[in-house]
Amino acid sequence: MTSPVKELSSRRYIYQGDPLLTPPPADLMVILDKYRGQRDALMTVLEELQDHYGYLPQQGLQYAARELGFPLSQVYGVATFYNLFQLKPPGRYIVRVCKGTACHVNRSGEILAMIKTKLGIGEDETTPDGMFTLQTVACMGACSLAPVVVVNDRTYGRMTPEKSTAMLTELHDEAAMEVKV
Ligand code: FES
Repeated sequence: MTSPVKELSSRRYIYQGDPLLTPPPADLMVILDKYRGQRDALMTVLEELQDHYGYLPQQGLQYAARELGFPLSQVYGVATFYNLFQLKPPGRYIVRVCKGTACHVNRSGEILAMIKTKLGIGEDETTPDGMFTLQTVACMGACSLAPVVVVNDRTYGRMTPEKSTAMLTELHDEAAMEVKV
């Protein structure tokens, strides 16, 4: 049986006068082929691009604009309007500090301040070494563990500013170990 990626990659793309002269990469094509010409699918396409790449790469937006039939400026307008979309690649570790009520009353503000100081970045920023991206969220759905910090898919409950410092050190060490292996 032919794989869907292989089947789609045989599609003929004719881009006359188009700055994007080559077909999209196969993984991007799999997403775009589902929605070609469906202008009402723009948000869905952006969500799928972000799920796949972890952010919205410029090339993905360019192809999405063309395949859905939008001017690129309009696609950028949507991508920059909603703060759930990221236009820059995230760091290796995405640190999400919960600012919901349960976490707030349990000092999440102090935890956030500590992490900002330790990493030297603000919210929605990434450290220059590409290691950490810092974000805040309204509620992680784990209020019984408040205050909560989530790093990628790991949840750290009942955090304190001190524990958050130790957590960052552990993550640094973990990354260093992986580089050595
Ligand atoms: S308020 Fe933080 S997990 Fe719900």
